[in-house]
Parts: sequence; structure tokens; C-alpha cells
Amino acid sequence: MMSLCLTAGAAPPPVSYGVETDIYHPVRAEHGMVATVDALATQVGVDILKQGGNAVDAAVAVGYALAVTHPQAGNLGGGGFMLLRTKDGKTTAIDFREMAPEKASRDMFLDQQGNADSKKSLTSPLASGTPGTVAGFSLALEKYGTMPLNKVIQPAFKLAREGYIVNEALADDLKQYGSEVLPSHENSRAIFWKKDGSLLQKGDRLIQANLAKSLELIAENGPDAFYKGPIADQIAEEMAKSGGLISKADLANYKAVERKPISGEYRGYEVYSMPPPSSGGIHIVQILNILENFDLAKYGFGSADAMQLVAEAEKYAYADRSEYLGDPDFVKVPWQALTSKAYAKSLAEKIDVNKARPSSDIKPGRLAPYESNQTTHFSVVDKDGNAVAVTYTLNTNFGSGIVAGNTGILMNNQMDDFSAKPGVPNVYGLVGGDANAVGPHKRPLSSMSPTIVVKDGKTWLVTGSPGGSRIITTVLQMVINTIDFGMNVAEATNAPRFHHQWLLDELRVEKGFSPDTLKLLGEKGQKVVVKEAMGSTQSIMIAPDGKLYGASDPRTVEDLTEGY
Ligand code: GLY
Repeated sequence: MMSLCLTAGAAPPPVSYGVETDIYHPVRAEHGMVATVDALATQVGVDILKQGGNAVDAAVAVGYALAVTHPQAGNLGGGGFMLLRTKDGKTTAIDFREMAPEKASRDMFLDQQGNADSKKSLTSPLASGTPGTVAGFSLALEKYGTMPLNKVIQPAFKLAREGYIVNEALADDLKQYGSEVLPSHENSRAIFWKKDGSLLQKGDRLIQANLAKSLELIAENGPDAFYKGPIADQIAEEMAKSGGLISKADLANYKAVERKPISGEYRGYEVYSMPPPSSGGIHIVQILNILENFDLAKYGFGSADAMQLVAEAEKYAYADRSEYLGDPDFVKVPWQALTSKAYAKSLAEKIDVNKARPSSDIKPGRLAPYESNQTTHFSVVDKDGNAVAVTYTLNTNFGSGIVAGNTGILMNNQMDDFSAKPGVPNVYGLVGGDANAVGPHKRPLSSMSPTIVVKDGKTWLVTGSPGGSRIITTVLQMVINTIDFGMNVAEATNAPRFHHQWLLDELRVEKGFSPDTLKLLGEKGQKVVVKEAMGSTQSIMIAPDGKLYGASDPRTVEDLTEGY
């Protein structure tokens, strides 16, 4: 007999915005706020807000700036998602995910023996989908911004042309990841290696003259410069020369799409997040719906019982992800069933707070018939209360490592997010099936989850994170840490994280949980593994009086505190 602890409707603790006696303190502001992974890009966004731009203007400026200052994931050659909520309470999602080229085919990442070949999907010219970032930013700016494109691109152009001093985070990532993917490509070496043959170090100035030229072309001629003009020519030429598939027609046909966000309700809060082709929104809402059946607050943060319940809920969600999620323009994603309270209750009833269910015993559910820290996230709120959450990426750090011709633009390796072969894990260990098979013009399934939580009809929390498969659980923990455990936004950010994605059957935890807790989880049957940090959230919370509280994740190497 399982010992169920189902409770419904437990009152959440009082909301915390941070008081002097707290351990971690949010950044505070009155008018507007920008949270990004990079100090230069944050400043770009704040400057745009101070010049009278709204949150969308600032977000687009930040997105272009990060393509210069955070080349690990900031991009023009990749794609992503924007979730925005206007001051009038309209919530909408902009999908600028990459699309598979016309010539893409189901088995393109298999070797001659029929095995998935990750080199092809990660570091070859075949790894790139048709980029969406430039189209997505233009759609957002035209429909919801107030400033012209050339104005919001200007700061990025200046950073590329005049250069900036390489910080520790970039120097470390270039050494750790860049030196694996970049050096074999002449155009990439020319950017990140110095004339004496050594890699850029902290303190060196990085000037990107070619990228500055591309930014100037987009500023002058709009997205057509990228999709139909000189930049498109260079990308298509690079692909044709090196064996990639993206053609001029693929670029000319690319479209960013506005979609209806996934929404749910959790303990009285409204939760909005990204719909397919991201899996993030559906599974965050699904897991929250399951957890609503338990009194997490009673167990407390970091307790083995609370972690057990969350981990078990995550297993069911990731099992469903493997079966049902894909590009909604090609497959029917049963989002209503997956996010229904009734389905969540049926899953909650299978969860035992005392005993982990092995992943091998969990299969994707039967639904009702009606139907690396390698990414980057930023959040912006303006003085009127418009809120924007953007997660975009090249996929893994520095993408495929290929810079197209003399554009200075690094290309993504997002094709690895497709399921190369059913049941074979991708770089994040995620498995998939038919719904996420490679196909022409399809968008690969994502976990990116820009998320906005609404309290009493007002935007309350704007958040998101990089982290591949861990994005969903990282964002989930921002929601439960604030709502269930009453943490302020900085505490919720700093708290140690954990993650279960069904396959592998392991409960991955960060350092910081007590050995007793981990022992208890082991006794429940969880296979606990302590691994490196997960996620890098950038979050803003808005108090009912309009005051802003923000927190950037400390998990990324920072250069804000200097020493010598
Ligand atoms: N490339 C990681 C994701 O989209 O989830």
C-alpha cells in the first residue's frame, strides 16, 4: 500500500520581496530592470529604458548586444523564444526557433551502420538549422516595440566595432568549450585567437569587425539583409562550400511565428510559459499541476520528502515529453490533456512520498482522447509594467563553431535537438520519437521556458534559464521556491537545485543539500548523484506597489567583483 500524502488547497506562505534580515538580497529598482548574464548587455538594456524605450525595445537591444558580448549563446545565427506580457495584460509568445532546411531528412544524422552520429548533429555544417533570431526580434519590435531597429542595434554595433574587454566567463568558456569546436574553422579562429596564435584571455580586447558590418547591414536594411541580402548570400555560400544544407530559399522562407502561450494555474497564481515547439511551458504546468496535490510548504525546502515528490513528478513529465512533443506545425501536440488538472491528479496518485518508482516502470502516459548552461536567458521590465522574457541560443556553447563566410556570425547546432533516432539520447540525454524526428521545415523540440507568473492579475515574476534539459526543472524551482517556500527572488535563485529527467534514472543534485537529505532520498530509492551547477536564471519580481526586485544567477563565472 503506497503512503500517499495528497492534500489540496494548502495556503502558500506569505510572499517575500526581501528584507534586510534575509541572507540573499535582490537588486531593487523603481522604474525598470534588466537581468542578463552579462554586465555590458544589461547596461545596454538599462540605457534603452532610460531613453524612453519600452521593455521590448530594451529586450531586442539586449539580444543584439549579447550576440556580441556573449558569443557562447547570444546570437544572430541561432534562435529562441520571447514571452511578453504587456501593461494591459496581454500575454503572447514569439517563436523564432530555427527550422530544418528543405533538404533535411529523417536519417541525416545516422552513420552507415544506422547509429546516431552526434558529430554530424553537433559540429558539422549539417548541425545548423535556418536561424530565427533576426526575424524574431524584428517581429517583436514591429508589433510591440516603440523604437526603430537601427536605434536598438546601435549599442551592439558599437560593442562589435570598438570591442570590449574579455571577461573571465568568456575566457573560461573559450578555453573549456571553444577550443573544442572553434579552431578547425578559419573564420572562427580569426575572431577568437590572437595573431600570435594564442586564445583570447581575460583582459584582452575583442573587436568583431565583420560582425559589426553584419549588424550595420541589418540596422540599415532590416531583416531582409539577413534573409534575402548579402548576409543570406554568405550563409548559403558557406553551407554549399562545406556540405551544409541551408540554402538561400531556406533563409528567404524563414518566418518567426506569434503563438498563444501555455497557461496554467498554480495555488492561485497564473503561470504563462512557452508553447511548442518548446516543451517547457507544457511540462512546467504539468509538473506544477501534479505538485498542487501535495503540501510542499509543509515538508519544507530541501527536505527529502519535498525533493522526492518533485523528482517523481518530473519523471512522469519527461516520459511524456519523449512521446508527445514536437513541432506543432507538423504534429498534433496534446497540450490540453498534458496540462489538465485531471491528468495531473491521476499521476499524483501514482506518486509515493516514501518510495521512488524506477524510470523503467514509467512509460509515457495514456492521455485523454481530446487530443548547456549553453543557452542564455534575459528578463526586462519597464516603467509601465511591460515584461519580456527571452531565452535564445546557438544550442551548445559557440554552436557548431562555424562562422559563415565574413559575416562574423556563429552558426547554431540546433539540429541536435531533433531525435536523430528514436530512443537515442541527444547531447542533453533527452530521448524522443516520431513527433520530434527530423523533417524539412520542422522546428526541433526545445526545453527553453521563458516564463511569466501573474498574481492578482498583475505580472509578478519574470524568469527563465539556460541549461538544456534542466531548463524546465530550473524554472519550475524558481516558481515553487517563491510560491511554496516563500523565498525572495534572490534566495530562490541562490538555493541549490535538483533535477530528474526520467532517463537517465538519476536524481541529479547540486552541492548544498545536506548529506542526511541525500541519504533519505537514497533510502526512498532515488539514485542520487551530485553534479555540477544547473541553470543560470535571470529573474525580476514585481511587488504589488510596482517596486522591482531582481536577481542574476551566481552560477555563471562573474567579473563584477574585481581583484588583483
Ligand atoms: N537547445 C536547447 C533547447 O532548445 O532546449
